[in-house]
Amino acid sequence: MNKNTIKIRLMQVDDFNAVVRVDEKIVKASRADYYRLKFETLVQSPDYLPTSLVAEAEGGMVVGFVMGELYIGEYGISQNKATLETIAVDPDHQHKGIGKQLINEFMDHLKTLGVEKVNTLVNGKDSALMHFFGSNQFSPSETINLERSL
Ligand SMILES: CC(C)(COP(=O)(O)OP(=O)(O)OC[C@H]1O[C@@H](n2cnc3c(N)ncnc32)[C@H](O)[C@@H]1OP(=O)(O)O)[C@@H](O)C(=O)NCCC(=O)NCCS
Repeated sequence: MNKNTIKIRLMQVDDFNAVVRVDEKIVKASRADYYRLKFETLVQSPDYLPTSLVAEAEGGMVVGFVMGELYIGEYGISQNKATLETIAVDPDHQHKGIGKQLINEFMDHLKTLGVEKVNTLVNGKDSALMHFFGSNQFSPSETINLERSL
């Protein structure tokens, strides 16, 4: 499949099942409850600007998505930072540039909304994923994620 046949558009409430299906093909388990919560906030809540996108193949099948978080709350956008929560491409359609296309359109969209910086959390030991984000102009930030075991 050529990347030109992929259409990127804003995620809609009706994309829920397709998003859960793509994620399930990757993690081999249904995370419907997790995505229900994500949709309630990021796709449906008036407190967040719609930033999440889906990649559609010819025929309209959703083959990938990116979920973003841009909080507005009652005072409008208070900060110029957004978060890339999750990006996923159907394993049958990976390595064709769809991930890159999703990120590029996500960035273009955020830019039009006044966002100047996008953060994401990744496992630093996942070298393939680090490579993917590195080749899409992400670099380590100064903020360090601290944790404490209980
Ligand atoms: C990361 C991901 C979105 C990339 O999608 P994609 O459409 O294959 O991306 P592109 O075609 O633009 O780029 C592919 C590159 O991503 C990198 N990559 C990172 N993780 C990868 C993975 N699990 N599988 C395949 N490629 C991966 C490779 O370097 C690959 O380069 P190559 O095609 O030269 O081998 C996709 O691999 C995926 O859904 N992974 C599982 C979910 C995940 O880990 N998401 C990130 C957490 S938020």
